[in-house]
Amino acid sequence: MLRGARVGPNDVVYDLGSGDGRIVIAAARDFGARGVGIELDAKLVQDSKDAALKAGVADRVTFVWKDIFEADLSPATVVTIYLFPEVNAKLVPKLKRELRPGTRIVSHQYPLGDWKPDRWHQFQSGVRKHTLMFWELPPSR
Ligand SMILES: C[S@@+](CC[C@H](N)C(=O)[O-])C[C@H]1O[C@@H](n2cnc3c(N)ncnc32)[C@H](O)[C@@H]1O
Repeated sequence: MLRGARVGPNDVVYDLGSGDGRIVIAAARDFGARGVGIELDAKLVQDSKDAALKAGVADRVTFVWKDIFEADLSPATVVTIYLFPEVNAKLVPKLKRELRPGTRIVSHQYPLGDWKPDRWHQFQSGVRKHTLMFWELPPSR
């Protein structure tokens, strides 16, 4: 997801529903980005903070215990998503309203409602087939 979204040191990666924090930690550790994970499950937020310390990236990542629908997404330059299709569909108006021009979005496995991706990529890992879909908000004029 991060490679496909061309994440680099100038990026601020927001993972919506950050689980155990692996995406945000990888963004900081492997791509030099800063990252924010937003997660509803308080235990996963604590696990993520512990994992970030262990990975040596605690100064570049933040994990927030919050509903993604209550969070301000505007600082993001890259948004990563692996959520259920119905949540994705509900997110679309918020993404279009809050994200700044040029922000990239990548969704694992499920589309964002009927918002057509700019490109997509499929691959297999073991027996599992994965689909990544990519969007880029148009630059401001
Ligand atoms: C499939 S996991 C993905 C975890 C991580 N992004 C990854 O790719 O490894 C989805 C996560 O989203 C969280 N989640 C679902 N709805 C949420 C919401 N409205 N606000 C914040 N987190 C949410 C779940 O608790 C779960 O940890």
